[in-house]
Amino acid sequence: MQLLKNLFNIPYFKSPEVQAMKVETSFGKISSLLLAVVVCFLLVEPTFGIPVEEDLTITYKEKVALEKFRQLVLEHLKDDYMKQDIYLIRWLRAANLDLKLAEQKLLDNLKWREENDIDNLLSEDFSDFERDYPYTTDTYDKTGRPMIAFTFGDWDLRKAVLAGQARRFTRYLDRAFENVTTQIRAKQARGENVTQSQFLINLENFNLAQQGCIQCLPAIFTYFQHQVYYPNLADNIVLVNTPTVFEVVLRILRPIMAPETRVALKVFGTNRQQWQQFLYSIIDKDQLSRDFGGTRSSYR
Ligand SMILES: *[C@@H]1O[C@H](CO)[C@@H](O)[C@H](O)[C@H]1NC(C)=O
Ligand SMILES: *[C@@H]1O[C@H](CO)[C@@H](O)[C@H](O)[C@H]1NC(C)=O
Repeated sequence: MQLLKNLFNIPYFKSPEVQAMKVETSFGKISSLLLAVVVCFLLVEPTFGIPVEEDLTITYKEKVALEKFRQLVLEHLKDDYMKQDIYLIRWLRAANLDLKLAEQKLLDNLKWREENDIDNLLSEDFSDFERDYPYTTDTYDKTGRPMIAFTFGDWDLRKAVLAGQARRFTRYLDRAFENVTTQIRAKQARGENVTQSQFLINLENFNLAQQGCIQCLPAIFTYFQHQVYYPNLADNIVLVNTPTVFEVVLRILRPIMAPETRVALKVFGTNRQQWQQFLYSIIDKDQLSRDFGGTRSSYR
């Protein structure tokens, strides 16, 4: 598997068959990178190293499937970003290149967006929730991936649920997904190599009454379930200070998680040294709040 050495040096491939596979329409830098197809004819199983490279390169087999997929779904794609290879390939990969399944997943997603007015989610006012259930979306890992970070144990989820706010609560969490995916697209438009985000969840103070209550579980469930609408968004989902009781919640959640979510999930216990070592390897300290061992002031 040959990877692009310099992703922004597009005329990297000289061979005529690669040139021939270039699609006429150019959808901007990142997707034209995708078009610089890495040819894998001779390889049985392409193996990829770094996730961002996996996102920015495409095998011949994927390229063929992608063009069929584009024809299949084109009429449903209303936003320009949806027509880009980098967007479409994720649905295909999430479906193991099964065109029908990928179409189904994508259409389900569009239906969900339409029915829930997701396009306007970022302009909704959630100031009350921001105070009670703070999360951050304005810090970045060492490679510039935006991060969603929060200390779940500080959230009185039960309160929101009992106040009939469960649905609004999951919307508020969906807003974080929208925030980072919007940021990622903006970064790509600026020529940055960013395709994913990081999720940091601190479970210190987690207790069954406030966050693990039976009525709370559907909200947590929905949170993980909605990851299907953002395929392969998470580079890592890092849980730190995970108490033993949360293992029960995880056991319930695992079967509904998308395979790539399961892969991204890194569950750390209360050994601070262990999880800090991992976080420091991917994130600078000034991008971490104190709850995560960093130097940024915490929001609590
Ligand atoms: C993008 O990623 C590639 C491969 O990881 C790297 O070689 C290149 O320098 C990166 N480009 C930018 C602008 O960061
Ligand atoms: C994402 O969230 C950050 C921090 O709350 C905010 O400053 C930024 O404007 C948001 N970006 C988008 C695209 O909503």
